Amino acid sequence: MRKEVVVFGIKDTAELALWYLTHDSDFTVVAFTVHQAYINENTFHGLPVVPFEELANHFPPSDYFLFAPMTGVKMNTLRKEVYLQGKAMGYSYISYVSSKATICGNQIGENCFILEDNTLQPYTTIGNNVVLWSGNHIGHHGVIEDHVFFTSHVVLSGHCHVKERAWFGVNATIRDYTVIGEGCLISMGALVTKSTEDGSFYMGCPARKQDKLAIEVY
Ligand SMILES: CC(C)(COP(=O)(O)OP(=O)(O)OC[C@H]1O[C@@H](n2cnc3c(N)ncnc32)[C@H](O)[C@@H]1OP(=O)(O)O)[C@@H](O)C(=O)NCCC(=O)NCCS
Repeated sequence: MRKEVVVFGIKDTAELALWYLTHDSDFTVVAFTVHQAYINENTFHGLPVVPFEELANHFPPSDYFLFAPMTGVKMNTLRKEVYLQGKAMGYSYISYVSSKATICGNQIGENCFILEDNTLQPYTTIGNNVVLWSGNHIGHHGVIEDHVFFTSHVVLSGHCHVKERAWFGVNATIRDYTVIGEGCLISMGALVTKSTEDGSFYMGCPARKQDKLAIEVY
């Protein structure tokens, strides 16, 4: 089976992906890629940096996997765009799931980045291009759609439905049976007791919808 992977990015998250894949997976990172306009150096950590526009000429999708674990800025729209571009170019994505995460047979999509100390309880499904940074509790019988970003130590109670591109700040707490709307920003420490509206920004205990839209804040 093919085990070689190209990582999208040349900043912190890509550097972390290199570390995790090297120390805790069967994959070997062979190169990095970003759009031509963002390339300053031709190497990163001693590996080639290839323009994304030309990636298929150097590392064809028939022979290499792609992994694009990006930050959630602009409410995950950039992550979504790059992920879809890679798919249109014909690449298959890997997912990284830490050996120190607790997984209970969950269905997990592609291009997911799931770090240490996450607990995924049974019967919860994870879509494509989802980031679970370290230490989240993802409760049972839930649905997490594509392009969602959890930072750290979020408690998502059982039976929640998180719609695509939602973003959770550290230590947010979500009541059971809650629906988190598409592209919602749940700020750090928010206590979400009711379902939230698409594209909105929530803060506080209990969490209240703020005047600004999510995209205006992050
Ligand atoms: C949503 C968020 C981005 C808002 O940040 P912001 O718009 O820059 O807010 P500011 O820092 O300008 O603060 C504005 C006011 O809101 C308050 N505030 C900021 N975040 C708050 C929060 N999560 N809960 C309650 N009050 C908050 C500030 O104390 C400040 O109050 P003041 O006007 O009385 O001084 C921020 O709360 C957040 O969640 N950040 C994410 C942190 C995180 O998870 N980091 C990990 C990233 S990997």
